[in-house]
Amino acid sequence: MSIATDLVIRQEQRVDGAAITSLLETCFPTAAEAQLVEALRQAGHLPISLVAERDGQLVGHLAFSPVDIERASAGIPGESGPGLGLAPLAVPTEHRRQGIATRLVEAGLEQARRLGYRWVVVLGEPDYYGRFGFQAASAFGLRDAYGGGDAFQVIALQPGGIPQGSGLVSFCPEFALVG
Ligand SMILES: CC(C)(COP(=O)(O)OP(=O)(O)OC[C@H]1O[C@@H](n2cnc3c(N)ncnc32)[C@H](O)[C@@H]1OP(=O)(O)O)[C@@H](O)C(=O)NCCC(=O)NCCS
Repeated sequence: MSIATDLVIRQEQRVDGAAITSLLETCFPTAAEAQLVEALRQAGHLPISLVAERDGQLVGHLAFSPVDIERASAGIPGESGPGLGLAPLAVPTEHRRQGIATRLVEAGLEQARRLGYRWVVVLGEPDYYGRFGFQAASAFGLRDAYGGGDAFQVIALQPGGIPQGSGLVSFCPEFALVG
């Protein structure tokens, strides 16, 4: 099995748009995720969009978009600063189980930290995302609009970075557009 050592992880370039669309259409049952990423890109809501490249071919993609928090009560002290949502994450079947997604997530979280983001949420498998340090967001009084339960997770990028206090975390409006 090939190991993901010869991978390049980099921010998407304008020229990558069509290849990312095609990769997402391959990885998911419908075109919804491809349309979502395109809509986020058009809206300027893709501060981090990483591709994994090997031998000139795209073998993975990871997007981050801004999230907002609507607090249960206004004026809670200790403003947490900007956060991001991690989605979607995709690696084509023939390139899976080589650590490519792991490399994308690690690089993405590091870049988010460098850019000054303080927290990241994800809706995904706790077994998978737990290895990066994600924890159940409910433990911090955070909830999502999709009823994600334990799948809705959060990680701090800076000490104390996770918002404190009950709040609904909302993703960009483009997520609603693609259902
Ligand atoms: C989820 C997804 C992105 C994972 O991609 P991936 O590159 O295979 O992920 P990784 O290689 O980092 O990890 C996957 C598994 O392979 C294992 N693995 C990593 N490197 C490995 C290696 N060299 N040899 C064997 N196994 C390896 C990991 O431990 C992990 O195992 P586990 O989760 O079964 O315990 C991919 O399956 C996918 O695109 N799925 C469809 C889209 C999707 O559902 N996306 C997530 C929601 S947006």
